Amino acid sequence: MIHGFEKERFLDLPTPLHRLDNVSRDLGVDFWIKRDDLTHLGMGGNKLRKLEYLMHEALAQGATALVTVGGLQTNHGRLTAAVAARYGMKCTICAVDEWPGEVSANVLLDRIMGAEVVVQAPNGKPEDEQLLDLVHMVTEKYEAQGEKVYYIPLGGSTVTCLPGYYECAQETDRQAKEKGIGKARFFSGVGSIGTFLGLFIGFHDIGSQIDPTGIAISPFGEEKDRRIMRMFREAKEKMGLDWDAKLEDFHIERGYTRGAYNNADETVRKAVYHMARLEAVLLDPCYTGKAYAGVLEMVKEGKIAQGETVIFLHSGGQPGLNTPHHRKAFEAELMDGVHVL
Ligand SMILES: Cc1ncc(COP(=O)(O)O)c(C=O)c1O
Repeated sequence: MIHGFEKERFLDLPTPLHRLDNVSRDLGVDFWIKRDDLTHLGMGGNKLRKLEYLMHEALAQGATALVTVGGLQTNHGRLTAAVAARYGMKCTICAVDEWPGEVSANVLLDRIMGAEVVVQAPNGKPEDEQLLDLVHMVTEKYEAQGEKVYYIPLGGSTVTCLPGYYECAQETDRQAKEKGIGKARFFSGVGSIGTFLGLFIGFHDIGSQIDPTGIAISPFGEEKDRRIMRMFREAKEKMGLDWDAKLEDFHIERGYTRGAYNNADETVRKAVYHMARLEAVLLDPCYTGKAYAGVLEMVKEGKIAQGETVIFLHSGGQPGLNTPHHRKAFEAELMDGVHVL
């Protein structure tokens, strides 16, 4: 139990913390990777740690169906589908997006695991309002069938989810001590904020020498500043934290977003090749590849010093390699090494 929060246990934890020798040599830093992509349900990823806590709340409320939202290729949606399958629950993922004309990548996995996907092109309303309209429509349909719905907001990032990454911070701190790692910086991609905030609260609360740094994977402006402070204040109250934080305490790098969420970007693909060709670790083009591209740039800029110890969170997302617009961009670069005889 973390600060009064209980969870369902469906993960095989801890996930490994490995030193990546080839990347370390190439970059001149002491580079470690925390393999949260190896959480084993539904092809794994960071959302499963959050879902252990969210599922506890869902079951306590007697829920029989999970409804969540995201972009069409949401990893969080896929992992919600995975957990729903495991618990024999219904599941629908609502997305505001253009339909690409094919069932592929995460959507394919959602359907294989039995979840339904509702997708609607942007209709001019603010996206969060349009998503909530879809959620109401799906909820009414489920309720008419006698189901009880548990709604999970974008990315699963409510205060209920935060103990998931608090626990990851505790786990990493313990592993780091066992491996003789002292001071280190822990880098993670920031989307809906829950992962970073859980880590931040966890590392600070246990007095760790590991310092969390987020890398925004989509533009991070004042609205998100307000959101992180709002979530922190709510967490402080619900978790009973006896310490405070100011906006400046949240170290989130905002300069490596490549301009937009989930865009095809050459520097991100280069970062994916760098990791794959040195370590056979596959990153994804939306989150971990973008965060790693940020790390590579920070090493070049000297923001990460030579010899410094870096721990990089692999938060999953690899099904996104097959998202149509990413796959086409990869194909264009890689076809020269495919020899069709
Ligand atoms: C693979 C992956 N990494 C990182 C993140 C970011 O996590 P958060 O939304 O908690 O900020 C996500 C969110 O969907 C994700 O799918």
